[in-house]
Amino acid sequence: MNRYENKAWRESMRIRVDYNNMMADFVGEKGIRKAQLEASESAALTALAALEERRDQMKWRDLPYSQGAVVRDIKAAAAHVRENFDAFVVLGIGGSALGPIAVQQALSHLRYNELNKEKRNGPKLYVEDNIDPERMASLFDVIDLERTAFNVITKSGSTSETMAQLLLVVNLLKKRLGDKWTEHVIATTDEKKGNLIKIAQANNLRTFYVPDGVGGRFSELCPVGLLAAAVCGADIDELLAGAAYADEICKDTNVWANPAAVAALLEKLAMDAGNNISVMMPYADSLRYVADWYAQLWAESLGKATDRSGARVNCGQTPVKALGVTDQHSQVQLYTEGPFDKVVTFLRVGEFRQNVVIPRAFDELPDVAFLSGHSFNELIQSEQRATEYAVLKSGHLNKTITVPEVNAFTVGQLLYIFEVQTALAGELLNIDAFDQPGVEEGKNATYALLGKPGYEQKKAELDLVPRKNTRYTV
Ligand code: PA5
Repeated sequence: MNRYENKAWRESMRIRVDYNNMMADFVGEKGIRKAQLEASESAALTALAALEERRDQMKWRDLPYSQGAVVRDIKAAAAHVRENFDAFVVLGIGGSALGPIAVQQALSHLRYNELNKEKRNGPKLYVEDNIDPERMASLFDVIDLERTAFNVITKSGSTSETMAQLLLVVNLLKKRLGDKWTEHVIATTDEKKGNLIKIAQANNLRTFYVPDGVGGRFSELCPVGLLAAAVCGADIDELLAGAAYADEICKDTNVWANPAAVAALLEKLAMDAGNNISVMMPYADSLRYVADWYAQLWAESLGKATDRSGARVNCGQTPVKALGVTDQHSQVQLYTEGPFDKVVTFLRVGEFRQNVVIPRAFDELPDVAFLSGHSFNELIQSEQRATEYAVLKSGHLNKTITVPEVNAFTVGQLLYIFEVQTALAGELLNIDAFDQPGVEEGKNATYALLGKPGYEQKKAELDLVPRKNTRYTV
């Protein structure tokens, strides 16, 4: 029996959101009043009902349940990669990269790529989510093409960055391996739309599909994220079980027992009060890239110019990534004494997977010796509590999410809760949380600048932008 089939274990792994410090009773005048929160219960219920009603359009919500055969294929492909390759390179950007990065950091050894082959027990993972030419060139100094598998991921099948990477990789593979290049490339894309599917079919590439109704930033729990996770040895069944567990919790129409609903409500009320910034501060290196993944999810989903009626709203919260304790020494001064324009979300771990004791030494120096006998575990937990206290004392809104332990079950749960929270926040703001016209505008302008056929009008539009005035350049 898998541990996630045990109810008591599942309950012990339940993620909790402590929002005391969002409330006026705790944080003072900038806080949310109990009556105000309770008065918005009906809005949360309406949002929950709207999501349920449109569930058939939101296929990302079914991913924990709907992928039996796909999961089997992913495991087979991952086993093949693990057996035959020393490196696995993801080519993708945005929603096609941030999930794989976050999950690998959470579930693999923290210095995975640096471990020797026996200890790593899987290929090295590189997620290439930028097109800096120096970075691109440097990749080929650290991988052996003959021992590398590439997973090109693009839902739209046409993103310039990813397609440029593919052109480069295919060219190099062909030079080295001739027709065998196709054995080194796995495509993950839409089944019907875009150019990647055409390339995949024409060249008989192993292909996984991003299902309809699963947008880029909601795609970690489909082949986009599952393949890289399985290649690195993660238990993807447990990851999906965690998401399924979260789905049950996030459907709860008792709003006060539903962490996604409560968090969405709190953030909406905070936004209404001018808190335009959402700081995500994990106190665990394993969760540091969950903050990056969340930043895209929250920013792209909620940053919208108009609401569903077409009225101009220019809403959203700017996500800021911070890492505890590192950023205590860089950003926390601002969080305590700066403007009242943000909500800080601490992400803490109940039990770390390692316990490291601080050894005894320098007893003649009491200011150093007081640390002796404590552990790094106690130190980081105390620093999180201390920072939470400092932010509370300064009257700034904050809440704390506790992940009992970082494992596949809790990571699946956490990502899913954030996804539902984001969708609910979109409902509360009355915006479309699933489009990204601002991103598309940039993509289209790039196509125009590089001469993609069909973008001549966009190029003409760009040519109309006034020439830059040297007077404003120093
Ligand atoms: O969330 C989104 O839809 C975007 O951020 C995309 O993930 C990103 O632009 C990459 O798109 P694609 O997967 O189509 O290459």
